Amino acid sequence: MKAWSGRFSEDTDELMVQFNASLPFDYQLLKEDITGSKGHAKMLEKIGILSSEELTLIEKGLEEVEKDLIEEMKVSSDWCDLEKEDIHMLVESRLTSLIGDVGKKLHTARSRNDQVAVDLKLYLIDASHEVIDLLVALNALLIELSEMHKDVILPGYTHLQRAQPIRLSFYLMAYFQMFKRDIERLEDGLKRIKISPLGSGALAGVSYESDRFFTAKLLGFDEVSDNALDAVSDRDHVIEFNATSAILMMHLSRMAEEMIIWSTSEFGFIKISDKFTTGSSIMPQKKNPDAAELIRGKTGRVYGNLVSILTVMKALPLAYNKDMQEDKEGLFDTVTTLKMCLNVMTKMWLETTFDKDRMLLAVKKGFLNATDLADYLTKKGIPFRESHHITGQIVGICEKMGASIEDLSLSQLKALCPQIESDIYEKIKPIEVVEAKVSYGSTAMKAIEQSIENGKAILNKYKK
Ligand code: ARG
Repeated sequence: MKAWSGRFSEDTDELMVQFNASLPFDYQLLKEDITGSKGHAKMLEKIGILSSEELTLIEKGLEEVEKDLIEEMKVSSDWCDLEKEDIHMLVESRLTSLIGDVGKKLHTARSRNDQVAVDLKLYLIDASHEVIDLLVALNALLIELSEMHKDVILPGYTHLQRAQPIRLSFYLMAYFQMFKRDIERLEDGLKRIKISPLGSGALAGVSYESDRFFTAKLLGFDEVSDNALDAVSDRDHVIEFNATSAILMMHLSRMAEEMIIWSTSEFGFIKISDKFTTGSSIMPQKKNPDAAELIRGKTGRVYGNLVSILTVMKALPLAYNKDMQEDKEGLFDTVTTLKMCLNVMTKMWLETTFDKDRMLLAVKKGFLNATDLADYLTKKGIPFRESHHITGQIVGICEKMGASIEDLSLSQLKALCPQIESDIYEKIKPIEVVEAKVSYGSTAMKAIEQSIENGKAILNKYKK
């Protein structure tokens, strides 16, 4: 018999049973449902709706239900009784079969609408912390690699054309900044996740003296929602988490893309280990960067999950509508995808080697020091626009000769611009060019060391 079957005279159509059930996916909220229910039961006891014996029965019963279900889920799918609709009804019916009529009291002063809302928020609290931990681990590795490779210089690009020489550490620390912002976004989202909807009832509040502040504190929330109608119809936190995840995947996909490009024979800047690459079934020489490609590819589904929940929520009248049951699968998929991608990315970097010589070779071809020649001329008193033009002409001539700027003799250079002196050769060496960037946040050693120090201080907050 269904929990709500009182006013019905016909059975639900078999097809409807299948269509309506969320149990095949919301079983993933088992832990949260048990935690939420235990908190609610404690509150019912506090306000005199349950006796302390009844509370003990319910708490013990819930623990047993959880244990049984976890075991059953390991061996078969028999537990997945679609007639029970969802995890909330499955737990309640299991509880009642186990402890008898006392189990039926648990749903006093509660609706599935505030129940599912609280379960999902409990799930998001854990998920946010898990993703933050993985981001911290990746950022710790980026710091470590940055410290190891402070002396490695490679081309920095714009438009994927060689632009200016930079330190490898500078490049790695750029990603550190992105992941740091992702952590901040997750932490900010937690402020809104940690507002408890429990006790809002179906939509209007409940006609019992529920102590919502008690359950909120017990379950680890910081605040209690102010409006029941909003609390049961709000899925902003699911949207926000999906949005934060989409941005995070965008960062990971940029990193993955660069690993793919850098590992080509054309670039040859890095070698991703055999552990994170695969071969071809026909071309024996192939070593493909599948892990990085999958991270890039999985970004699509995470974006999709964001668009999907935004579309589900669009124009929904207040308060709960069954449409909202569609909030879960995408969210679960996003969490699984994020955790996997972050783990793989971190491990893949650990197994990647850098080819410093290839990087330096690339720095020497492509006039990456042209800006510095222009700056040199500007410092000799030529207005920057003019210096830029003269340098452009020198680059044009070098290109025709198949030479670099530093290959030209001083008399050749002087013929093109009399202000050039012999100190030019020193000034346009890669290391000099890098060290000339004296601005805060630049690629020079001093700035990099500062940014690594700043990064370490940030990570220290997360030391456990
Ligand atoms: N399975 C439902 C969901 O995931 C639980 C809430 C059901 N509420 C209702 N009024 N039918 O959204």
